[in-house]
Amino acid sequence: MSIDSGSKHGMWSSRLMFIMAAAGSAVGLGNIWRFPYLAGENGGGVFVLAYLLCIAFIGLPILMAEILLGRAGRQSPIGAMVVLADRSGVSRRWSVIGWMGALAGFMILSFYGVIAGWAMAYVPSTLSGDFVNISAEAAATSFDSFILNPWQVVGWQSLFMLLTVYIAARGVGRGLETTVRYLMPALFGLLVLLLAYSAFTTDRFVEGLAFLFQPDFARFSTDSLITAMGQAFFTLSLGMGAIMAYGAYMPKGSSIMGTAGTIALLDTTVALMSGMVIFPLVFANGLESSAGPGLMFITLPIAFGQMVGGQIFGTLFFVLVTFAAITSSISLLEPAVAWVVEKTSLGRARSAALVGAIAWAFGLGSAFSFNIGADWTLFNGMTFFDTMDYVSNNILLPLGGILIALFAGWRLGQEELLSQLSEDQRWIPVWRFLIRYLAPVGVLIVFLVTIL
Ligand code: PFF
Repeated sequence: MSIDSGSKHGMWSSRLMFIMAAAGSAVGLGNIWRFPYLAGENGGGVFVLAYLLCIAFIGLPILMAEILLGRAGRQSPIGAMVVLADRSGVSRRWSVIGWMGALAGFMILSFYGVIAGWAMAYVPSTLSGDFVNISAEAAATSFDSFILNPWQVVGWQSLFMLLTVYIAARGVGRGLETTVRYLMPALFGLLVLLLAYSAFTTDRFVEGLAFLFQPDFARFSTDSLITAMGQAFFTLSLGMGAIMAYGAYMPKGSSIMGTAGTIALLDTTVALMSGMVIFPLVFANGLESSAGPGLMFITLPIAFGQMVGGQIFGTLFFVLVTFAAITSSISLLEPAVAWVVEKTSLGRARSAALVGAIAWAFGLGSAFSFNIGADWTLFNGMTFFDTMDYVSNNILLPLGGILIALFAGWRLGQEELLSQLSEDQRWIPVWRFLIRYLAPVGVLIVFLVTIL
């Protein structure tokens, strides 16, 4: 086997920095924007339970597999899969994992950049007091008129994408690591502060908790099941190579099981904490828990607008969301950026600009889905935005996940595998069972149940 000399793209300076970067990728709009509204729409506790089961039995083993494959291959996901297929004596077609991942990355970034842009836009408007004592109708009108204006939506989306490209262009150490080093601790601090605010200033904290943890089976359907699984992949950044790309920069000599477990735990904690911040505010103000994607942009401003200190805490909330989104969007770009760096002579900065421009162009479709392009429907009457969200999360990520599980479980050379898992000897049989059988079969069953 080749001697491990790290990645040409750079390396995380420590295991902790890898954990921060991967947790930064995992913790994002998926936790703060998407998880609470999905839980709200799909019956609270039952959805949360299905989601937690998917995280533990499907997500965690695949998370380990992605880190392992990345660290073994030490390149962009496409490059790593080619190298690993060669070294394991199997077909190079497995690099389809990398290609599908890059496509999913563009699709996710298309809508991710738009929502992140909205969150950024809400920072100045909350701070300037636009929502103080606002009525429910006025909050809805204000949100609607904002997203109906294509210039505003594209403007904020472009600003967000520029920031993402700027960080990516600075490289692994000076760009990605420096960003997560400061933003991740800030994010946790803000979240704890907001949780205390929600717990102590609303008298509905217990009701919020009950909503999250008590099952309401009537609102749970088979569609909820695939949504829970798609959310498990999305929230852990799995199935598209983001974690594989980050794994390529992880130092050797630390346990993959322990690292993956920590990342999954941090991510799940943030999702549950976000729910615990949001639902008590929703209930305390008599608002609708199943408000859909608008939950964060209509319901929360109303809640903050009525509460003591809401102007400050509301602003902090949208700062938190923006931070969380940036540490994720840089990981969505990384697989494609690393690949362009490997394949061309463009260098890091120009590769980041090129990939970012493509992602931005994809994003226009999503930005226009709320205004001039609201009638351009693709499948099933879904807008471009909805289609990107549905196809990437519910189809491409789980499919990528199955392929990653099958490759890591059945095709990767044993020597390679044992060398990566040398710190995790005890867990190998358990992991092998999960990655070979439970994870792929689990994803397949959810697919079948949904289709039938
Ligand atoms: N995990 C991110 C979130 O929950 O917001 C989204 C994401 C990032 C998905 C990176 C996929 C990915 F590769």
